Amino acid sequence: MTAITDVVDLEVRGKIALVTVDNPPVNALARGVRDGLFEAVTQAREDAAVEAVVIVCKGRTFIAGADIREFGRPPEGKLIFEAQDVIESSPKPVVAAIHGTALGGGLEVALCCHYRVAVESARFGLPEVKLGILPGAGGTQRLPRVVGVEKALSMMTSGDPIGADEALATGLIDAIVSGDLSERAVAYAEQVVEEGRPLEKVRESNDELDAARGKPEIFDGLRKGIARKTRGFLAPEAIVQCVEAAVNLPFDEAIRFEREQFVKLVTSHQSIAQRYCFFAERQANKIPDVPKDTPQRPIRRVGIIGAGTMGGGISMNFANAGIPVTIVEAKQEALDRGLSVVRRNYERSASRGRISQHDLEERLARIHGVLDIELLADCDLVIEAVFENMDLKKDIFRKLGDVCKNGAILASNTSALDINEIASVSGRPEAVIGLHFFSPANVMKLIEIVRGNETGGAAIATCMALAKKIGKVAVLVGVCRGFVGNRMLFARTVQSEKLILQGALPWDVDRVLYDFGFPMGPFAMYDLAGLDIGWNPKTSRGETLRNRLCEMGRRGQKTGAGYYNYDPETREHTPEPEVASLIRDYAKEKGIALRDIDDEEILQRCLFPMVNEAAKILEEGIAIRPSDIDVVWVNGYGWPQYRGGPVFWADSLGLDAIVARMKEFQEQDGGDRFWQPAALLEQLAREGKGFKDL
Ligand code: CAA
Repeated sequence: MTAITDVVDLEVRGKIALVTVDNPPVNALARGVRDGLFEAVTQAREDAAVEAVVIVCKGRTFIAGADIREFGRPPEGKLIFEAQDVIESSPKPVVAAIHGTALGGGLEVALCCHYRVAVESARFGLPEVKLGILPGAGGTQRLPRVVGVEKALSMMTSGDPIGADEALATGLIDAIVSGDLSERAVAYAEQVVEEGRPLEKVRESNDELDAARGKPEIFDGLRKGIARKTRGFLAPEAIVQCVEAAVNLPFDEAIRFEREQFVKLVTSHQSIAQRYCFFAERQANKIPDVPKDTPQRPIRRVGIIGAGTMGGGISMNFANAGIPVTIVEAKQEALDRGLSVVRRNYERSASRGRISQHDLEERLARIHGVLDIELLADCDLVIEAVFENMDLKKDIFRKLGDVCKNGAILASNTSALDINEIASVSGRPEAVIGLHFFSPANVMKLIEIVRGNETGGAAIATCMALAKKIGKVAVLVGVCRGFVGNRMLFARTVQSEKLILQGALPWDVDRVLYDFGFPMGPFAMYDLAGLDIGWNPKTSRGETLRNRLCEMGRRGQKTGAGYYNYDPETREHTPEPEVASLIRDYAKEKGIALRDIDDEEILQRCLFPMVNEAAKILEEGIAIRPSDIDVVWVNGYGWPQYRGGPVFWADSLGLDAIVARMKEFQEQDGGDRFWQPAALLEQLAREGKGFKDL
């Protein structure tokens, strides 16, 4: 075996050259890998004894893409294209041997090989869109040539990988092998040589493109289909244009177009923000005082208390991941209702083709309903998901302390209550933790994991790892009212409600935040949640605007009217002039003078309070690091990922500018303490620093 670079080896086994990449953790295409692949394949091409080449990787995966940390820096060593060219133009067949995840540049290298074999668990994808870029090493040109235009578009605009079975069916791989991958791939290469099989070059295969030529409806349909999900993002449209170029232009011209688009995207603010989000999510997994090797508890069975919307949704996450769940309810009727909602959710997924009928049955069979809390005795983790009432929660945790086995983790799904107070009655506060799922819990990515004063490292390490296992993004936060996400949301809520008593209309505020990139504005959100949360018809005397709306029967979407009117069929909302006059009358009565407020001020008045709250959260140590706050807002509250999260966004505006504007608002609002910048924010602004410098 010869070391070609410190991360690539070359070994000749009979007539096959085996090129092995070993660049942990994910064999990213860093300089050593690019140089190594180029040099190793060149040597194999020149070695008269070699008749074919196999490229394989050590560790957990085949090349998982370009090294994202290198983006934005001047390229060093061989370019990926040079390594790809030497592979694709090789007169001797090159076989990619794939395990783990062949992603991005990794799959693009494999697409330059003449043959691809993989183990059954391997996955294949071009996830660049998630980083605000496009597959810039020929992916937009080669993938459609192999799997077809529609499949390639769907893979590249979603960024989601496919499994080996699908890869085989679509022609992305030539064989699934089992046993030792290197050995099987060498055997495959020998067979290719023996049978004198042709050098299959993807770039020369045009059948799939010919089939799509003159059919603009393919692209129009795709654009329509992804419009809502990709609103505001630049990369998806660039990907579609590159595939159009693949269909309509010769390969070399189209690949030049792809490169131009790639360069535009990789230098865009969007991609910088999305790459920041990628690393922020991984950073959030690192807990300074809970090292990686902290012993975790095996979670073989989960108990859920409460079969309401949250309890049901939470249980689906575990059932989906193969973990059996016991749900406890107080009454049979509530249990039946909860379980039937879970069944309906699964049926909906099956009818949309997201899961098979077999998956549906298997997952449902993992969820078991009971009426007796004592039946949670064998659970390794119990999550309480009853309504937000401290006495009720304490009562439950007292019982859990008695019932649950030693070492079980006891979690509350509270979105705002004090975990320490809940833990205090359990008799084992080190085992008590908050697991704040977001609604709908089977869909939303985020979990705020709330650490009480006495929560132990084992409980934290177990829950962080478990969150990853069930496909969630977890952020560890401390105890305060509303934790990170809701606490910042409260700050925005206060201002949004104030804005409409200063002259902006609800739909102005919503439009500004929607245009910023949120999926919906605050007033549409209040309507969705219901304006009557906490409203009491017996005592309501029109003190607030909300009370007045509720008194008029405008209690939100569920009553067909709130701040907006709702179409009973489509749920489309339209502004209601009566609401505008209600606001005017209310302001007049209270002696408030309304004024014109421009869009920029609306945005600043809604979002600067969140930045200020983020600073307080950091001052108090509620979040470990600034980027954790961004992970919460991007994954739990629809903050547009291409703006990186509130903290990243604030840094990009400059904290001094934000502080100065907050002081203007303070003066304008009669010295309102609400606008007082947090000490940390003022300090950073004074020193010309950003959150990133903390
Ligand atoms: N570049 C640099 N570092 C990377 C990386 C990459 N492409 N992919 C993963 N890493 C790092 C992570 O930051 C993490 O580092 P730390 O341990 O220091 O936090 C480590 O590798 C492990 O990553 P994960 O925690 O995510 O590990 P996992 O096992 O859960 O997932 C994975 C592995 C599926 C490969 C996942 O890391 C992933 O999706 N990576 C990104 C893949 C990607 O986007 N590839 C395309 C890159 S862009 C490209 O290739 C452009 C092009 O066209 C040439």
